[in-house]
Amino acid sequence: MTSKSCVLNRCKPRPSRVTKLMAILFITATLILVVHMTFSYSVFKKHRHREVPITLISQSTVQVRNITQNFVKTSSMLVDDVFVKEPILGNAFTRHQIISCDAREEFSTDSKNRTFNPRINKTCPGRPPTLAGRFAPSTNLYTYHELAAMFPDVQDGGHYTPRTCMPAEKTAIIIPYRNRCRHLYTLLPNLIPMLMRQNVDFTIFVIEQSTLGSFNKGILFNAGYLEALKVDNYDCFILQDVDMIPIDDRNMYRCNKTGPVHFSPRVNKFKYKLHYSGLFGGVVGFTTEQFRLINGASNLYFGWGGEDDDLRNRAVNRKLPLLRKNFAYGIYDMVNHTGVKEEGWKVNPDRLKIYRTGRLRQHVDGLNSLVYNLTWVRTSALYTWIGIGFNATYITKTVPKQLRIGRRGDLSYLKANFTIIS
Ligand SMILES: *[C@@H]1O[C@H](CO)[C@@H](O)[C@H](O)[C@H]1NC(C)=O
Ligand SMILES: *[C@@H]1O[C@H](CO)[C@@H](O)[C@H](O)[C@H]1NC(C)=O
Ligand SMILES: *[C@@H]1O[C@H](CO)[C@@H](O)[C@H](O)[C@H]1NC(C)=O
Ligand SMILES: *[C@@H]1O[C@H](CO)[C@@H](O)[C@H](O)[C@H]1NC(C)=O
Ligand SMILES: *[C@@H]1O[C@H](CO)[C@@H](O)[C@H](O)[C@H]1NC(C)=O
Ligand SMILES: *[C@@H]1O[C@H](CO)[C@@H](O)[C@H](O)[C@H]1NC(C)=O
Ligand SMILES: *[C@@H]1O[C@H](CO)[C@@H](O)[C@H](O)[C@H]1NC(C)=O
Ligand SMILES: *[C@@H]1O[C@H](CO)[C@@H](O)[C@H](O)[C@H]1NC(C)=O
Repeated sequence: MTSKSCVLNRCKPRPSRVTKLMAILFITATLILVVHMTFSYSVFKKHRHREVPITLISQSTVQVRNITQNFVKTSSMLVDDVFVKEPILGNAFTRHQIISCDAREEFSTDSKNRTFNPRINKTCPGRPPTLAGRFAPSTNLYTYHELAAMFPDVQDGGHYTPRTCMPAEKTAIIIPYRNRCRHLYTLLPNLIPMLMRQNVDFTIFVIEQSTLGSFNKGILFNAGYLEALKVDNYDCFILQDVDMIPIDDRNMYRCNKTGPVHFSPRVNKFKYKLHYSGLFGGVVGFTTEQFRLINGASNLYFGWGGEDDDLRNRAVNRKLPLLRKNFAYGIYDMVNHTGVKEEGWKVNPDRLKIYRTGRLRQHVDGLNSLVYNLTWVRTSALYTWIGIGFNATYITKTVPKQLRIGRRGDLSYLKANFTIIS
């Protein structure tokens, strides 16, 4: 007969020793669980406001494409909402608009899944009869969705190939990028139709520096080149500044096997005059072999200045003749920079010292010495978007100090010789 404990008029059996033991165990377990959960929550709370870590995509999986994938927020967002009411292309801009280039919006777009007509097997003409010549650039600021809808013939990842003829080369357009979505969204609706009229087989690569700190265009050129070659065997690389809007479609985006081409001698910013005779900035084109021959661009220029002149010298040092588009065709409007936050794009105070040692270190500074992380590869409707991370200190140290900084050396970049081509 079990004893009973009675409280008021409710009695229940007194627990046995086993039951007591189980109760103690249960209470202890519950206590441990509660303590654990409280601790976990405090850890969660502490980390909640941290940014989601960037998933590193291993280099062998570059081909994985999923544009519906959730966007991973990074330190460097495609947000550029600092401009209000200001002209974009000089005074031509009429439509004032704030645009949010939040990339989450971009990648909610459904993949275009269409079939294309078979291509006509006929070599594309050197200069298609459909060219318009000089054109007034579009200065409207479109949203991403408007842009995606405007170009149904551009395949995911920003690839386009003409159907009415066979182009002689496959071209990768490399656009170094960070926090300039207004510039990018102004460039695309001007560049894409022009390339289509020119029968260019192109793929647009937006190469974004995912690392904070000074912008390094040379690294982005090099990484863009290496990553693009994992996507396809491009013959021609056009290195295109995001703020340079072409305004004459006779400026054919083609490489030249003789030497690298400077496409942008005339820019509105310099009153459409050649800024100086050695100018090699803005838009330049290298065949895949030419860029490899010069070991790509220097990785050492952090911030603004020097890197374009250095790139030109690397071609000269490797005996590549410099070519330049003629003044009638090689003409651009630069997007007005007023109001754009441009941290990381400050004048590099060391640029001349680095410039002086360019020739000495060309063989140990460039494609063959670059160490970087592939932070993301995303396929958007109009371009392949690649994030590149690097450690500036580490990269700088890949080159011995005596080859990095010089007090003597040639500064005669103002007078390089170019051959004018059509
Ligand atoms: C793409 O990503 C979305 C969201 O992460 C997922 O639901 C979908 O299955 C993925 N599609 C493919 C083809 O991997
Ligand atoms: C850019 O816009 C400002 C006014 O917003 C104007 O003063 C300036 O001249 C413009 N720059 C160029 C290069 O058009
Ligand atoms: C694309 O279309 C093909 C053929 O119609 C189909 O087999 C495939 O599943 C489609 N892919 C997507 C992602 O809708
Ligand atoms: C195109 O035509 C040429 C001969 O006119 C032929 O040699 C070549 O194989 C054809 N190419 C394709 C892709 O059909
Ligand atoms: C390539 O450059 C040479 C000059 O060295 C020029 O004669 C030729 O027309 C150029 N080719 C193209 C396709 O521009
Ligand atoms: C690449 O990312 C890894 C993991 O976050 C990090 O340890 C490494 O330092 C990074 N390397 C470079 C070159 O940025
Ligand atoms: C960057 O590289 C330097 C030099 O190799 C190293 O000391 C530093 O820890 C690295 N930083 C990161 C964040 O990996
Ligand atoms: C440019 O060409 C001129 C005349 O051919 C020559 O005297 C000069 O040295 C050349 N300049 C450079 C930087 O090669």
